[in-house]
Amino acid sequence: MNIEKIVTLAKKRGFIFKSSEIYGGVAGLYDYGPLGFLLKQKLVDYWRKFFLKDDNIFEIETCFIMPEKVFEASGHLKGFVDPITKCKKCKSVYRADNLIEEKLKIFVEGKKSEELTQIIKENKLKCPECGGELEEVKVFNLMFSTNIGPIEGNPGYLRPETAQGIFVNFKNVLNSLRAKLPFGIAQVNKSFRNEISPRQWLIRLREFTQAEIEFFVNPEERFEKWKIYENIKIRVLTREAQRKNKEVEEMTIKEALERGVIPIDYMAYFIAKEQIFYESLGIPKEAIRFRHILEEETPHYSKGNLDMEIKFDFGWKEVVGNAYRTDYDLKNHSIYSKEDLSYVYPDGKKIIPHVVEPSFGIERTIYAIMLYSFVEDKERGWDWFKFVPKISPINLGIFPLLKRDNLPEKAREIYENLKKDFDCIYEESDSIGKRYARADEIGVNFCITVDHQTLEDSTVTIRDRDTTKQTRVKISELKERLRAMLA
Ligand code: GAP
Repeated sequence: MNIEKIVTLAKKRGFIFKSSEIYGGVAGLYDYGPLGFLLKQKLVDYWRKFFLKDDNIFEIETCFIMPEKVFEASGHLKGFVDPITKCKKCKSVYRADNLIEEKLKIFVEGKKSEELTQIIKENKLKCPECGGELEEVKVFNLMFSTNIGPIEGNPGYLRPETAQGIFVNFKNVLNSLRAKLPFGIAQVNKSFRNEISPRQWLIRLREFTQAEIEFFVNPEERFEKWKIYENIKIRVLTREAQRKNKEVEEMTIKEALERGVIPIDYMAYFIAKEQIFYESLGIPKEAIRFRHILEEETPHYSKGNLDMEIKFDFGWKEVVGNAYRTDYDLKNHSIYSKEDLSYVYPDGKKIIPHVVEPSFGIERTIYAIMLYSFVEDKERGWDWFKFVPKISPINLGIFPLLKRDNLPEKAREIYENLKKDFDCIYEESDSIGKRYARADEIGVNFCITVDHQTLEDSTVTIRDRDTTKQTRVKISELKERLRAMLA
């Protein structure tokens, strides 16, 4: 797992660039290049098909900037903070809890600023950069703030999660669609967090893409659909395992629900789908686990969180947050906005729906895909990405063997025909070997080569990226064969 090689290849071939790089770049900000953009687009399209279709979930797109009241109601204004400490000498700033955890190997999540200051003092922790003394721990709000309009006094914030755009539109969506419980509202777009120490490439960013579903339910009503997946197996890091330093346990979705690891049947449905989704992206089963968030880490309003984590080169990290947010958000927005955000049944019964939220990090998913698709290949002499066809930015490369003898004309004709149905590239410069290498590097699934035999018997060769084996196929059967091979 050589992340440096992956980052280098991702830049060289136009997947991910440092943002504003010509000015030195900015920590925690990355741009997508042409191939990264395609990869992301395909991933998100696949996510939409997999999670939204057939499940009474409606996608919306809401503003990035929201007024202060929203975040007063959501609790972000007060509570979306991280503890920081500053070096008195070199002025470097650190996340105090991370610093303590790294240096002392103790768990301090949820501790107050004063307690963290005390731990730093007692253990004589110094600035890792210059050895200087550290200041008292303070809290820092992670939201980017601005003023809306030219007149001061109208504060706004870049949203730190897409979810708030969904909650404030709950009533609009409900009324416009006459939606019936249970139903979901989804959003895929940017969120912003002014992270103190962005790091690990696409893992902790200041601007990132979330794909979130807020699934509105009546907790008194049961959701039979989860039973489709009751026998799906997941690997769970239970609370007990975390406390006693034990291994993950494999259990079925049914067992996880019965044991209270999954707090409600609606969430069981999404958890099972997440397992299937990530495996289908090429992430190995043993690199996926669900961590039952400890009581002390669980937000006070939540009835249970279960994070999906992936094993990265540096260790395990949350990629999907699953939270049973209860009626906390709608209730608070009702109070602050004075709008009635309840759901009314045909018989007049009113409830504030509960919310089950799966929240996906798209950049962390892309990191994981790149990590597990990367093949270091000494035999071939170049490294390449083994992307699964559904998210591979380019599925086919169409090449004439040589740049003469009417081969380019024939290859172009085939390319023009295939591009109507497939994501293709056409290339004729350099040797065929170099073109295969370049295609492998960006994960092109199959290369179609037009040679002299093509002109005689209307056949081409298809080269399989994964095996490099070539098979000869009639042009008249090409589309059908490719469709089957890319399915
Ligand atoms: N609405 C719930 C929510 O935002 P979260 O656990 O804070 O929950 C959900 O975020 C997901 O968003 C995470 O699992 C992660 O994949 C992604 N994410 C959060 N902060 C991120 C950051 N600074 N950089 C990249 N991805 C991040």
